[in-house]
Amino acid sequence: MSRYSEFHARSLQQPEAFWREQSELIEWKSPVDRVLDASRPPFARWFPGASTNLCYNAIDRHLPSRADQPALIYVSTETGTEKTYSFAELHREVNRFAAVLLALGVLRGDRVLVYMPMIPEAVFAMLACARIGAIHSVVFGGFASHSLATRIDDARPKVIVSADAGSRSGKAVPYKMLLDQAIELASFAPEHVLMVNRGLAPMALAPGRDVDFAVERRKQWDSKVECAWLESNEPSYILYTSGTTGRPKGVQRDTGGYAVALAASMKHVFGGEAGETYFSTSDIGWVVGHSYIVYGPLLAGMATIVYEGTPIRPDGAIWWRIVEQYRVNVMFSAPTAIRVLKKQDPALLRRHDLSSLKALFLAGEPLDEPTAHWISEGIGKPVVDNYWQTETGWPIIATPRGVEALPAKFGSPGVPCYGYDVRLFDETTGAEVGSNAKGVVAIVGPLPPGCMSTIWGDDERFVSTYWHSVPGRSVYSTFDWGIRDNDGYYFILGRTDDVINVAGHRLGTREIEESISSHPGVAEVAVVGIADALKGQVAIAFAVVRNPAEVADPAARAQMEGEILKLVDSQLGAVARPSRVHFVAGLPKTRSGKLLRRTIQAICEGRDAGDLTTIEDPTALEQVRLALGGRP
Ligand code: PRX
Repeated sequence: MSRYSEFHARSLQQPEAFWREQSELIEWKSPVDRVLDASRPPFARWFPGASTNLCYNAIDRHLPSRADQPALIYVSTETGTEKTYSFAELHREVNRFAAVLLALGVLRGDRVLVYMPMIPEAVFAMLACARIGAIHSVVFGGFASHSLATRIDDARPKVIVSADAGSRSGKAVPYKMLLDQAIELASFAPEHVLMVNRGLAPMALAPGRDVDFAVERRKQWDSKVECAWLESNEPSYILYTSGTTGRPKGVQRDTGGYAVALAASMKHVFGGEAGETYFSTSDIGWVVGHSYIVYGPLLAGMATIVYEGTPIRPDGAIWWRIVEQYRVNVMFSAPTAIRVLKKQDPALLRRHDLSSLKALFLAGEPLDEPTAHWISEGIGKPVVDNYWQTETGWPIIATPRGVEALPAKFGSPGVPCYGYDVRLFDETTGAEVGSNAKGVVAIVGPLPPGCMSTIWGDDERFVSTYWHSVPGRSVYSTFDWGIRDNDGYYFILGRTDDVINVAGHRLGTREIEESISSHPGVAEVAVVGIADALKGQVAIAFAVVRNPAEVADPAARAQMEGEILKLVDSQLGAVARPSRVHFVAGLPKTRSGKLLRRTIQAICEGRDAGDLTTIEDPTALEQVRLALGGRP
């Protein structure tokens, strides 16, 4: 038996012993007694009764041994700022931030919504929440007012932390107006809005509600805030993610299980060690940012790089310049970003000394073979694909390098990570499928530590959404198709639901449809994700208008399309903007009125549309083909 198989088998057969050992990777205030409470499946409560604190483990714990070593390295090619915070400095800033939150009345268990660009204060805010036991909910800065309002209403934050603006390709992206609109739209009102002023955009403060962080920080200059010792299952954060419905799900994470899972993943998957440097190019608004910009590296005593900028400014060597300058040891990015680099001069990959780098991890979407080869050969380093979700918080499938140097197979993220009992099931019968057959990727419970505890405020939705979708089984569905080869390697074949993945951003087509439907001229709309060479997928909309005269000629169609795209931009944000809106007289549906999204998608991608016996009006397919301009 290989070391990997033994490790994986033990994690499933003796989960208590296995995770008790892993729990020693972090510090507990009151020790771990029980490892798992699975008495109320599918809920899993890890390390019940033991108490700990994420901020303590990320910062305070390292002070005796590495107070003066770098903890947070900030690089912004947008504003030309570079600044390194040692663990001691990070400790000071997080204490100040925590004291500011306390002064604003934030209590343990209160929610704090963080709507921030990639600046150190965003990380201070998250760690400050963790320190006082407040639950942060970071909303990606690329989302606009409607998306933000939905999340405000669901999380009901006492305080919102934001900034005047982000910056993209040298242009300020103002946040404050969007935030004000969102608060206006929402039914729930936060007590305070804490604003970081970067001096990039005007920032009007609402009297009584809005406060300037710089002023509050000065008041708390020497404040020290004790860590709140949380029971392992108390929530650390909520992170909203898209699903099948138009309403995003608040993925709720615990405290102790998450800390253990991340610390274990640093050791067994990423091979990152204390004193080393981790560089994830993600954004704090996504799960990769939570786990592998903020918590994972710091828990391990590593320095983490917070990067604001694109991969190609000032030129396509910027990441590698950062690797050289800060002696980056472990790097994490997404296939999309690599495909962007592929359009640049390959010599840029060799301009800098990359000798410190051990491996480049890529996740978030399928890693195509040509891209994997190109980057791996270009930088001369192993490229490690890994597959996971917002829900799981850390890799489900990878080649865990810290356990055994398993060979990589391009096109496959690898084998199930320890703790995950991954299986494939037939979508209609629920029968387990064997090797080389396509099935829904599912996990037999209990989910390992670090995975979502529930959907915020909605246990019932957690159970019905994730645990009742494979017929006749109570297993966790990933909503991804997969196939396993004879060596036990998995290949991920795309989503089974209406979630699309645009440039690594997970979006719900229903949310986009709801936004488009709010245009008064639109009667009906279908949004599908179709394959795109650069972004993985792009969203395409097919709309039926109320008054056909409004799209009678090309100029009218262009105007209507422009209006719709602007609407999506303003409601959801540019990330959700479809690449095209096509106008059709009717949409393909089943006789019972269900939209045939997969059929539309197949036509757009030039694939066989499959079984069409249930279609209500076959001419609707012709409409789609025609709208695409006769393109396949
Ligand atoms: O469809 C899978 C795809 O991204 C989804 C999860 O996206 P998100 O919640 O944003 O979490 C990203 C965490 C890295 C999955 O359901 N996905 C993620 N990683 C891979 C992937 N598809 C193929 N290969 C991957 N390595």
